[in-house]
Amino acid sequence: MHREKQIYLAKIAAVLSVLPVLIYAYSFGAPRRSTGAPGDDTCFTAGCHQAPGSTLIRDSSAIQLDPGRPDMTYVPGGGKVRWTVTISDPQAVVFGFQLTARLESDTRNGQAGDFEPADSSTQVLCDDGSLKTATQPCRPGVTVQFVGHSVRRTSGTFSFDWTPPATNVGNVLVWIAANAANGNGMTSGDRIHLAGPFVLRPAAIGPRPTIAQGGAVNAWSSRPTISSGAWMSIYGQNLAPTTRTWRASEIVSGVLPTQLDGVSVKINNRDAFVYYISPTQINVQAPDDDTTGMVPVVVATPNGTSDPVMVEKRRIAPALFTWAGFVPDGQRYVGALFPDSDFSGRPWVGRPGLLAPLNIPTRPARPGEFVLLFATGCGDTNPAQPAGRVVSGAPRLTNPVAVRIGGVPAEVFENTGFLIFAGECQFNVRIPDVPDGDQRVELQIGGVETQQEVYITVQR
Ligand code: HEM
Repeated sequence: MHREKQIYLAKIAAVLSVLPVLIYAYSFGAPRRSTGAPGDDTCFTAGCHQAPGSTLIRDSSAIQLDPGRPDMTYVPGGGKVRWTVTISDPQAVVFGFQLTARLESDTRNGQAGDFEPADSSTQVLCDDGSLKTATQPCRPGVTVQFVGHSVRRTSGTFSFDWTPPATNVGNVLVWIAANAANGNGMTSGDRIHLAGPFVLRPAAIGPRPTIAQGGAVNAWSSRPTISSGAWMSIYGQNLAPTTRTWRASEIVSGVLPTQLDGVSVKINNRDAFVYYISPTQINVQAPDDDTTGMVPVVVATPNGTSDPVMVEKRRIAPALFTWAGFVPDGQRYVGALFPDSDFSGRPWVGRPGLLAPLNIPTRPARPGEFVLLFATGCGDTNPAQPAGRVVSGAPRLTNPVAVRIGGVPAEVFENTGFLIFAGECQFNVRIPDVPDGDQRVELQIGGVETQQEVYITVQR
């Protein structure tokens, strides 16, 4: 009896686990095979959005696809890339969509790559209608996937992740159906847009990335020492196929991207957060990691993985922001602001003309004035702020802070620094009574000194 009861319970559980998906309202995600691809229906089907006041727009330019690579290619065997679908329709109140990616060699049933939601705004359906999740893949043999909205929403932009096929499968074709709806909670009065196929070509494989010896350094001190959450620069060759910074759409639910255009960095085998990529330089935020000592840095691009370069990981590795790389002699001067500095002409701190190449006026600081200094690698905060997340509020540093200017201890506002942006902390410091001229700035966090030989210009 019991065994039968158990199986029965399991069966009920199985039915129940499916039913909820089926019971869900379509504004919580369209039924699978609604993309308009070969073998698929569309939203504009009888009993669905083919309803009074609804319209169908074929080959619609209102749907844009960004497959994470500007040249509409994919990299066989490459890493996960962030895709973004944008639906622009001024008449819409709420939006939904469904997308599929198929092999050109089998446009009906040939799944190309693998989809995953990037956040709760999208979901992936398997071809049997079940939900594909991180813990529940599609059943064996059920290959075709459909990524779409998980709930109708007022924004027409949806982002999700795609892992390309492991090998060169020829062209990948993408179809998208979208609903620019009037928000009445029904199928009537909606504008159904169809677009595709978008064609992704296999990218040509280029040379493997190489990191220059000693090319993994703290972004602001150029020293080979980092800490969790610190900004790093990595120099070398063939480090990326493109040159750009992250886009707002790639920061999803406050989480910073771990790859751009298929370029990613691992530090001690943990994903770093990628802000800037180019063929010769990458800037990343180091991930949280309790390890200290020498750790490997590895760059992966669509063309392969670099050999590791070692960098020293410490609990705290503070580095002051300077104008290195921005203006001549920039590495000598701290990047400091006055409390009222701005981009509309109010001066920043520096000798006259220091930032003229950036069209920013500067003036020396006077004793008694407060200036704002910035650093990375500042260590723990309270409340704790994980690396790779957008910072909310201004968490305080937990380690003791000391600043000397011209060798004279300087007053630090609230005796501490504040995390103001991922990996970036700010110190409000009063210029002590020191002689006119370039005065050395020394910042210590938890007894660890920032880089040497950086100055601030003081003048009464
Ligand atoms: C990719 C295709 C589809 C998309 C993008 C889509 C999207 C949406 C959106 C955004 C809404 C909310 C409409 C509003 O509030 O004005 C909605 C509602 C609805 N859709 Fe769809 N839909 C699709 C396909 C379908 C299909 C094929 C059916 C029928 C099987 C269907 C049935 C409904 C129904 C009954 C509603 C109203 C009530 C509800 O929320 O369930 N939809 N859909």
